[in-house]
Amino acid sequence: MGKYFSFRRILIYLMLIIGIMQFFRIDKSHEKVQTDLDFLLSTDAPENVSKIMHEACYDCHSNETKYPWYSDVAPISWWLNNHIHEGREELNFNYWQSFTPKRKQRKLNECLEMIQEREMPLPSYTWIHKEARLNTDQRQILINWFKSMGAREEKDGD
Ligand code: HEC
Repeated sequence: MGKYFSFRRILIYLMLIIGIMQFFRIDKSHEKVQTDLDFLLSTDAPENVSKIMHEACYDCHSNETKYPWYSDVAPISWWLNNHIHEGREELNFNYWQSFTPKRKQRKLNECLEMIQEREMPLPSYTWIHKEARLNTDQRQILINWFKSMGAREEKDGD
């Protein structure tokens, strides 16, 4: 028993496994952003709105993800990639103008709600990305912007 389950042996296997994990890299490539489709570009969003959203939302809700160094380290990279894919699937601002009017309205309302209730940006993200934390002023700027785009507060859950 001692011979096969020694601490050293386990450590060596663990390092081997982590080493092998590094070969499974995430795909960071993305297509070119289309000015006429992107939410901020196509609506000619003011610069302050664009800046806040690029810092606080676009890493997960667009193809324009700015990857940190640890996105090269598995298994952190897999976990990050999963969040990014989930975020893009839910809402990709790069494709805004390709949404139906109904979907746009729903997403605008959801954005307003997420910002008002401080659910977005994701806390697990702002914990590391301090620059993405929204202060009261920034939050208000986004709230005003989404309202000016037609976002409405939903009552009774829908
Ligand atoms: C770290 C990644 C990340 C960041 C940054 C982020 N989101 Fe999200 N967002 C997600 C993920 C993942 C989901 C889907 C799962 C969920 O709802 O938690 C989501 C869901 C959403 C939804 C849909 C919610 C619903 O009702 O289903 C909206 C709207 C949204 N985000 C808006 C924003 C806005 C606006 C920002 C910036 C202020 C932002 N998000 C920043 C990852 C992120």
